[in-house]
Amino acid sequence: MTQLSRRDFTHGTLGSLLTFSLLETLFEADAFAADVKPITAKWLTDLHQIGLDVRGKKLKQVEWQAKTEELFKQVNLPDLLKFIDFEKLSKNVQFRDQGEKSMRPKFPEVEGLPTKLVFGHQVFALQKDRSVVPHGHDNMATAFLILQGDFHGRHYDRLEDHKDHFIVKPTIDDKFTVGGCSTVSDHKDNVHWFKATSETGFIFNIHVLNIVEGKRSGRIYMDPNGEKIAGGKIRARKIGASEAYKLYG
Ligand SMILES: [Fe+2]
Repeated sequence: MTQLSRRDFTHGTLGSLLTFSLLETLFEADAFAADVKPITAKWLTDLHQIGLDVRGKKLKQVEWQAKTEELFKQVNLPDLLKFIDFEKLSKNVQFRDQGEKSMRPKFPEVEGLPTKLVFGHQVFALQKDRSVVPHGHDNMATAFLILQGDFHGRHYDRLEDHKDHFIVKPTIDDKFTVGGCSTVSDHKDNVHWFKATSETGFIFNIHVLNIVEGKRSGRIYMDPNGEKIAGGKIRARKIGASEAYKLYG
């Protein structure tokens, strides 16, 4: 062997070793993704599409709610839990004394799943008797899916906005357990309140903001234990976030 070809040989071998190691890493990563790829990635992509449709006015907000609930009811929960690595996420959670702890698990990059989704997502973790406090939404379409535990879930239609109060009407008042879901929009069930009734509870949330462009998106807080008025309606005092957490968190 000449000096030159020996050097070539060494480089060649080192190159192959690097390639092999890289391939091995890729294979392992892919083996994980392949496990969960088809089901949850497709499910999230469908949620992405109807999110685009509601923003693009191809879907009415109440139609988005119906379609989202349909998709949520079809979820493969073990697969979704694997997708967000729920085991790791739910281990050693720093629960909050009031209200929910919000966590944002990163979705794995999976072929076919857009990297920039139209909806934001988070997982709420709560201890027993703690609540996602009663609140309404402006210019948002959101959905809850119970991942673990039991909840007392309530929704209200937000019928009127006044200077210091809202007129609301109860629409849902039910027990929610694993796989249970509900949705919110400006047009239906706009206010929700979820109280954990098991030792701990976890909720998967998605939210599409800026349904109408140029309008603010966000939460508004209220006290739904207000004066009962005609037609099963309630006068719910407008409150700030801190009072909402103090009263109901
Ligand atoms: Fe909400």
